[in-house]
Amino acid sequence: MDCGIFNSVDLPCGRSIENRLVKTAMYEHMANFSGGPPNDFHYGLYSEWAKHGWGMIITGNVPVSPQHLTLGRDMVVPPILDVEDIKPFRRLAQVIHGAVDGTRPLAIMQLSHAGRQSSNFLGGRPLFVPPLAPSPIRVGAGHDENYGRGAISDLMFHALFQVPTEMTTHDILNVQSSFVRGALLAYRSGFDGIQLHAAHGYLLAQFMNPKSNIRTDKYSVAPQNVTRMLSEIVQAMRKVVPTTFIIGIKINSADYIPSGSAEEVFQEGEQRVLDHIRTIASWGMIDFIEISGGDYENPDFMACSGSQTLGRQAFFAQFSRTVMKDLHQSPVPLSSVPLILLTGGLRSYSHLQAALMSKHADLLGIGRGAVICPDLPKILRLQLQNSKSSSAWADKPFAREPDIESRPSKWVPSVKLIGAGVGTAWYVSRMRDIAISQIENPRAEPPLVDYNRGALIALLRMWVWFNSRIPPIWILGIFTVLVVTVWYSVIALL
Ligand SMILES: Cc1cc2nc3c(=O)[nH]c(=O)nc-3n(C[C@H](O)[C@H](O)[C@H](O)COP(=O)(O)O)c2cc1C
Repeated sequence: MDCGIFNSVDLPCGRSIENRLVKTAMYEHMANFSGGPPNDFHYGLYSEWAKHGWGMIITGNVPVSPQHLTLGRDMVVPPILDVEDIKPFRRLAQVIHGAVDGTRPLAIMQLSHAGRQSSNFLGGRPLFVPPLAPSPIRVGAGHDENYGRGAISDLMFHALFQVPTEMTTHDILNVQSSFVRGALLAYRSGFDGIQLHAAHGYLLAQFMNPKSNIRTDKYSVAPQNVTRMLSEIVQAMRKVVPTTFIIGIKINSADYIPSGSAEEVFQEGEQRVLDHIRTIASWGMIDFIEISGGDYENPDFMACSGSQTLGRQAFFAQFSRTVMKDLHQSPVPLSSVPLILLTGGLRSYSHLQAALMSKHADLLGIGRGAVICPDLPKILRLQLQNSKSSSAWADKPFAREPDIESRPSKWVPSVKLIGAGVGTAWYVSRMRDIAISQIENPRAEPPLVDYNRGALIALLRMWVWFNSRIPPIWILGIFTVLVVTVWYSVIALL
């Protein structure tokens, strides 16, 4: 019955992971407004995950630029790495390593730069200062696929995102050195490694995607240039960290898929990303590649049970199988082939088992399931020990998902980004419940999941929340600016 979930596996850098279960990156929304170091809320949350035997724990994305935050309360890489700046991150690494059940999870810091997806108001820049990106193409614009998306979507994209400023070579080198500083931060704080966020439409994905990169210089999407940004960052990082430091990459299978027939999808989308992954593997410097999909225009990575996009998540699994097969036939020596981490839609023991046994993945990434069920590895282990004869539990989803409706009525059109935002808010509010319970009593079980929490309450709990260091006037100010901007955008469109 055990298909090897609890077997250890070696990474190319020589480190090993004690089992295949990975708590994947999830933004926590717990740092100070406009970004900051981890704090008691992070320590509370991660101490809960650390108790239960995850093989690897990846932090939520940590932007390398305080001017390119995601939703405003991001942990952020400090501009200078002095002892005091490193201390809170060191404590976070210690918390993640502080296992109580004998499994010492690997602690991985996810490094990000949101590029054009860094929004107005929350991105950490003065109002109306555009973010940096490979090309001046706003989120939601300039691509056939987006036409006909609907007025509300367009309005949202106009209100939230600006036309970014095209990066100069100087900007590119600056961003590269910020990523290297991020790796140094992780190393000096005692993390086992980092993961570069090159998925979900973030800056590193923008460089690899023709819908966001129309450059004609050496950072273009031409085959000889398309992975240059990533490769220069990885090479520079490898020069400053030891060879045993883990470097992973999260990449999309689906971003590049144009609308069209299944045949076109296969030829244009899959082949293109496969080429990128082959190139990345050929560097011999990467320990694991996480396969995901989607971006802010099409947030497939937030698909939930019963939604159409689950089909796209099944596609991630098919794709990761193709990748595994391809890499094992490649000329790259087997010991240097990156492990494949599959994330998205792994919702039952049978899914995990199938992914490992059918060679879809080496590692199994769990996001939302880890928020609802932080003790999942412990539960699985117990069930495996007790399931000599019966395996009826294996097909049952290990975590019931919330049933959150993101629109007030069926007459209001559904907007994918709002749906993903509501989903994020629900899980963020649940993460905060766990954090608070652990701060109050580190030995306590987290509170029961509140499935009655609806979209509005989740959004309020995510946004109308402050700790002693954030004056409520700030929150009021941000809400006012948001409402006024949306109002003016509506008037402008009418
Ligand atoms: C609240 C929340 C925050 C997330 N933040 C991140 C993030 O910071 N970085 C990232 O790569 N993915 C992020 N994701 C996506 C997850 O890592 C994962 O790809 C996605 O949830 C699909 O996996 P699942 O079906 O197991 O939840 C986030 C997902 C959620 C629910």
